[in-house]
Amino acid sequence: MTSNPVLDAIFSRRSVREFEERAVDPHLIRKVIEAGMWAPSGLNNQPWRFAVVTSPEMITRFEPLTRYSRVIRSARVLIPVFVDSEAMYHEVKDHQAMGACILNMLLAVHSLGLGAVWLGEILKSESEIRELLGLGNNLNLMAVIALGWPVEKERRSSRKSLEDLVVYKDCKI
Ligand SMILES: Cc1cc2nc3c(=O)[nH]c(=O)nc-3n(C[C@H](O)[C@H](O)[C@H](O)COP(=O)(O)O)c2cc1C
Repeated sequence: MTSNPVLDAIFSRRSVREFEERAVDPHLIRKVIEAGMWAPSGLNNQPWRFAVVTSPEMITRFEPLTRYSRVIRSARVLIPVFVDSEAMYHEVKDHQAMGACILNMLLAVHSLGLGAVWLGEILKSESEIRELLGLGNNLNLMAVIALGWPVEKERRSSRKSLEDLVVYKDCKI
């Protein structure tokens, strides 16, 4: 099979939790957000909203909000991703769109040579994060993406076998 950049990116992306000191150029941050914006959404309602945090002082203020404080400390950029309840039309479908948005962002990060991790545990601090950023109650936190230039190291992950996950098939795959 000839090389397929999309599949290569999907299969080679790993969560990155240690980053170099080197800053991330703003135009790369913009690209990552654009990738999120181009995710599909029901009725094309685009319910996602993004915050961009790069100042070391502000990043430090996220540390006590999660048990992944080490990841926060290492990150050069935090992108809290919100769903706007005022833009929503269907609970499940809007949350599905948010997942698509966040995954698009992770794949864009990887394709640019950057690294990132999707932080979910930090959702317990949603109200503190809204307050820290001066945002309204209509914005519900879906994830914080921590990103930067990845420290070089081998990163492994695993998945269950396809046979255990396909619950019905009427052809040999
Ligand atoms: C909804 C969600 C929440 C996650 N929350 C965290 C988190 O709080 N901290 C963390 O280190 N990784 C978190 N992750 C990353 C997963 O641990 C990671 O994707 C999984 O172990 C598979 O590894 P891989 O991304 O390298 O393939 C989260 C991923 C998802 C999709």
